[in-house]
Amino acid sequence: MRINFDPSELDRNTFYKLLTAVVVPRPIAWVSTTNRDSGTDNLAPHSFFTVSCVSPPIVQFTSVGRKDSVRNVEETGEFVVNLAPEHMFEQINQTATDFPSDVSEFDAVGIAREPSLRVKPPRVAASPVALECELHSTVRLGDSTVVFGRVVHAAVSEAVMVDGHPDVKKLRPLARMGKNEWGTLGELWEINRIPLEEWPDLLGR
Ligand SMILES: Cc1cc2nc3c(=O)[nH]c(=O)nc-3n(C[C@H](O)[C@H](O)[C@H](O)COP(=O)(O)O)c2cc1C
Repeated sequence: MRINFDPSELDRNTFYKLLTAVVVPRPIAWVSTTNRDSGTDNLAPHSFFTVSCVSPPIVQFTSVGRKDSVRNVEETGEFVVNLAPEHMFEQINQTATDFPSDVSEFDAVGIAREPSLRVKPPRVAASPVALECELHSTVRLGDSTVVFGRVVHAAVSEAVMVDGHPDVKKLRPLARMGKNEWGTLGELWEINRIPLEEWPDLLGR
């Protein structure tokens, strides 16, 4: 037995709550931007976030509605995706407060900046990964704007590297679930991809 939900019969928020409860877990892009006119640095979490292209390297996040982050990105063409680490859980949540545009979440919440190498918006100093991005394009979809950013520089803390590779157990990324639920890294498994030759029933088709 399944329960059926028709988005055309439900109000926006009801279906939004359903979608965000079932598209889980979502990584959190902690997006820093800078206001073009005032120079105010903005910081906000976005869990509608993923990699969208390998070559060139492009990541995307979605602004639901028109917010400071998306406006700054459109006006300056730059942003930084900072990895949201477990130990900054409360600060990340505090930067989701709807502060006025002339208030920097870095200062209001007390988050240390560090300069980026290739773009103007600063990085979060205590986050282990910063992806510095130049705006590739935006796509308006209904009430939302998808922002695509070309990654022009990646800065990874030495402390999270193991054998030349970022180690997820050291990164300790946060994830967003439905409602106000957040999660941390669960159990880890490793498994190799199975080559076609190892599916005997399909060989000699
Ligand atoms: C964990 C988390 C994830 C969020 N994900 C998104 C998102 O994907 N898109 C969005 O528009 N807002 C998202 N929000 C809400 C924004 O962070 C919030 O509206 C924030 O005030 C926007 O800041 P800004 O106006 O400075 O850009 C999220 C909030 C939290 C706590």
